[in-house]
Amino acid sequence: MIENSKLTVVGAGAVGSSVAYAGLIRGSARHIALYDIDPAKTEAEVLDLAHGTLFTGSSDIAGGSDIEVAEGSHVVVITAGAKQRPGQTRLDLAATNARIIGDLVPRLLEVAPDAILVIVTNPCDVLTMLAHEASGLPAERVFASGTVLDSSRLRWEIARRADVAAGSVHAQIIGEHGDSEFPLWSAARIGAVPILQWRRDGELLFTREQLDAIAADVRDAAYRVIRGKGATNYAIGLSSARIVEAILRDEHAVLPVAPVLSDFHGIDGVALSVPSIVSAEGARPLHETPFSGEELATLRDSAEALRGVAADLRG
Ligand code: LAC
Repeated sequence: MIENSKLTVVGAGAVGSSVAYAGLIRGSARHIALYDIDPAKTEAEVLDLAHGTLFTGSSDIAGGSDIEVAEGSHVVVITAGAKQRPGQTRLDLAATNARIIGDLVPRLLEVAPDAILVIVTNPCDVLTMLAHEASGLPAERVFASGTVLDSSRLRWEIARRADVAAGSVHAQIIGEHGDSEFPLWSAARIGAVPILQWRRDGELLFTREQLDAIAADVRDAAYRVIRGKGATNYAIGLSSARIVEAILRDEHAVLPVAPVLSDFHGIDGVALSVPSIVSAEGARPLHETPFSGEELATLRDSAEALRGVAADLRG
């Protein structure tokens, strides 16, 4: 673990405060700062979090509405921006949130020049392209939380059907963190058993139809939560804390985050979630990841769609 590691979370809304909360409880960083332009809201969230630190690990929490609170951060997780309303897609938020990210990134790097930037604000992959441009940093140092959360949703769905622990399900959602995402079924395993060969009472449990239904449930999961409670926050908070730990502990953990890709199976200049090695250096896509022909075609379609959205934003 980096000594005196510091995480700054930008945005004190439902997502940002859940990232800070998860980070405190998991001990993801020694120091956690919360930054938001709303001083009253930030102060209240910081106080509420601080009042519970007797019961967490050794992490502490501070924050405010002056960008200086981010000074010296090793990791900055950006959650600021408009959130999806019921019926909106993540891509519907692009124009509004692009302005916010474009303004934030240079100011953050002035006070935290060595930070790795993790973009959670949606559409996180598109905004990563803009944040990367605005930062002037190497590609590995700016990436989206991407489909780490969607992969957790996928593993949970498989685990409860197969009655195994989610940690024993090796499966990933890749591509856009949004409507064109898809599971990498060709590589999915429970233990060492390929998912298509998993049996219960002698019968194959995961038919093609089952797998399609699971993929659809995962893709639509956020819509379902947003319909019911107006936002998703706990699971994205935990997923983000997990990514922060992989960086601050230099874990070299393989996680489906989204840096801007270059020459990844022919994809260039687009941020998309692919299995990547996450360490103190940032995120490095695992180029050796095998794909079926259909999976690669879907990934390329996803890349072209996101490239189009980013190009529109640049005007
Ligand atoms: C979700 C939001 C964070 O998938 O995009 O829950």
